[in-house]
Amino acid sequence: MDQQEWTRVVEAATRAPSIHNTQPWSFTADGDRLLVRTDPSRALRALDPSGRQRIVSGGVAVEFAVVALAATGRAAEVDLPPDPADPDLLATVTVTGPREPEERDRAPGAAIAERHTERAPFLSRAVPDEVVDRLQAIAGDLRVWLEPISGEDEEVATAFLVSRAEEIEQGEPEYLAELQQWMRTDPAAVDGIPVAAVPADDPSARPSNWSVRDFLVGSRSGDGPSGRDLDPDARRPRWSGRPSSSWAPTATTGRRGRPPAARWAGSCSRRPPPGWPPHR
Ligand SMILES: Cc1cc2nc3c(=O)[nH]c(=O)nc-3n(C[C@H](O)[C@H](O)[C@H](O)COP(=O)(O)O)c2cc1C
Repeated sequence: MDQQEWTRVVEAATRAPSIHNTQPWSFTADGDRLLVRTDPSRALRALDPSGRQRIVSGGVAVEFAVVALAATGRAAEVDLPPDPADPDLLATVTVTGPREPEERDRAPGAAIAERHTERAPFLSRAVPDEVVDRLQAIAGDLRVWLEPISGEDEEVATAFLVSRAEEIEQGEPEYLAELQQWMRTDPAAVDGIPVAAVPADDPSARPSNWSVRDFLVGSRSGDGPSGRDLDPDARRPRWSGRPSSSWAPTATTGRRGRPPAARWAGSCSRRPPPGWPPHR
């Protein structure tokens, strides 16, 4: 691998999504190896004190590097060696030789240039089963699980928890200051979240009954936190009915086991508890 080839791979890797677009990574090419490190100087101390989301972001960059290599006909192996002498080292990507790229290698490689985070409202219809199945199969190949949120109980539980998290974060000045620090008004900015990429309207005027992460720091037209006037009894968006297979004891398809990380919501009832949302 020469420098030009590594430059193309690293360019692809840096198109990975990252928390608040902090791009908390660095790359060192050395012969046939690429060392990927996390960059603690880009840590989000308020939002991500444990650094987990920073590490996840770095992990996606590693995967993008492997995808870019595969698309250009290079097989690669990834080692995740814990190295006490190099604690920021996330992974070593080693090119192991040429490999004729197939369509399943080329398509993800081409998609790297196209992908971006979409924050517009979702259509109120279910993701087709075959798409969910395919995503789960791909995630499984990477030893990652993907949990579809389907069925009213889990949808409401998830919406409730996300909404509650946003409510809590909106009450934390350090979190808001950090968010402000990573918002970008300059269209030429190379990191951070461009204001054009987030909804600009007042969150309370949006058509959803639930709030999600709100990037409007200090420019809200109302006087309270996002979600303040949510009505927990308001009609929810229509749901077209993929059966809930992974949470309910009455699973209808039984194709998936319930992942441990999903257990918290298993007992949530259909409606948020009394007193929600908290009016301050
Ligand atoms: C670990 C992680 C967590 C993220 N969390 C959120 C989130 O809560 N809300 C959101 O709108 N985007 C979230 N994102 C998306 C990033 O904001 C987005 O990737 C980044 O701004 C770069 O934009 P792009 O994906 O369009 O390139 C997350 C991304 C990662 C990797």
